[in-house]
Amino acid sequence: MTSARPAMLLAFAALLGAPLPAVAQDAATGERAFRQRCASCHSLDPGQNRAGPSLAGVIGRKAGSVEGARYSKALQDSGITWDARSLDGFLADPRKAVPGTSMTVRLADAAQREAVIAYLSGR
Ligand code: HEC
Repeated sequence: MTSARPAMLLAFAALLGAPLPAVAQDAATGERAFRQRCASCHSLDPGQNRAGPSLAGVIGRKAGSVEGARYSKALQDSGITWDARSLDGFLADPRKAVPGTSMTVRLADAAQREAVIAYLSGR
């Protein structure tokens, strides 16, 4: 645990089944943001791909690796393994993080990104 990774800590707290109130709140905020900004293209059910791949278990997964999902070559060749940090960079500006990606939606607000990542960490 060298760098500050609040979203990871939040995920661990959630996994332990004893979320702090702030954690629960963050995940709830994240769930709302996910529904509004992401769910039109991303399901959280494994194997259910929409315009974008299913995001079930995305943390720890190799980018571009969901079977049956339609990916850009850029993302498949990116060499990224998704963690809180790489997700934060990707969501802040996908086309800057992975030039050539077909995902163009950005989450400009850092607190919102953190909340969405906390939410995704439990999925
Ligand atoms: C308009 C549709 C659309 C929306 C809205 C959208 N995405 Fe995506 N997303 C995509 C597509 C398409 C890809 C595949 C990109 C590629 O292959 O370059 C993708 C890829 C991803 C990936 C990489 C997954 C993997 O398997 O490597 C993550 C993580 C992701 N999106 C998260 C999000 C989050 C979080 C939001 C909401 C803030 C969001 N996306 C909103 C279309 C969308």
